[in-house]
Amino acid sequence: MQQHRRPQTYTFDVWATYFEANLERHERLDVLIPWDRISLLPGADVIALARSLQKFELGESGEGAGLRSKARKRHDPVYDDALVRFIAEEQKHSALFAAALARFGAERLTSDWTDRVFVVLRRLMGLRTEVTLFLIAETVAMEYFEALGRSSDPVIRGVARRVLTDEVEHIRFQIDQLRVGFEHTPRAGRLFAAAAAWMVAVGAATVVAVDHGAAMRACGLRPLTFWHRALRHFGRAVPLAFRLSRETPTFGPSAPPSVFFSPAPKEHAVTTAAAGMLEQARG
Ligand SMILES: [Fe+2]
Ligand SMILES: [Fe+2]
Repeated sequence: MQQHRRPQTYTFDVWATYFEANLERHERLDVLIPWDRISLLPGADVIALARSLQKFELGESGEGAGLRSKARKRHDPVYDDALVRFIAEEQKHSALFAAALARFGAERLTSDWTDRVFVVLRRLMGLRTEVTLFLIAETVAMEYFEALGRSSDPVIRGVARRVLTDEVEHIRFQIDQLRVGFEHTPRAGRLFAAAAAWMVAVGAATVVAVDHGAAMRACGLRPLTFWHRALRHFGRAVPLAFRLSRETPTFGPSAPPSVFFSPAPKEHAVTTAAAGMLEQARG
């Protein structure tokens, strides 16, 4: 089968390697979540957080079949491999949220209108649009997960901080995919795509602020503050993802993949930070 070769700087093997190495890191981080600690949250906060986590649990549980079938048209098996591993990380987040829901005695959702809208939008569009929607969802969710990471409940705190360590890299992954996808698109086309993405991001941040507002307040975050900060996170990613700034970000995850292969493996910088965060969460 003929394969389209990409310039060396754009090979996705750094991402496949990162996701592979992350499996072992997850095992070490997941045991730091203090599942046996009882929740001292007031009942209203438990209900608000459970309703919110139900939607995230559902939203991150997808198998990414549409995304993968669009990606296969690029005839890049290394990219496919990275994408499969990325989807597996999202499913792990879903499993963590499901475990947090079970601890609260809450059921998992089987459907939700925000999830249905997200899925329909993704199915209608091409690969770049689908990746853009992931970038919007992840940059917008960052601020919310950070608030959950400050919850007075040790398990919510631990799950959120564990998920955040992945999401930071997922945003880089989406930016890298979009930079490759828009490599040969004229500036006018990239400006149009960025403007459309901004409109969707404003709508998404508004829906999340309203839909998850009670859970945000339970973690000390005002929905309006969330809205501003969520769009600021997205705004930082836009010039990089749509190639609208002169800055050329380093392709790949924030930690160099070589650390995974050194004879005496050094601790992954992100792992060290995450373990520290999780230790604080246990306190
Ligand atoms: Fe996630
Ligand atoms: Fe993610």
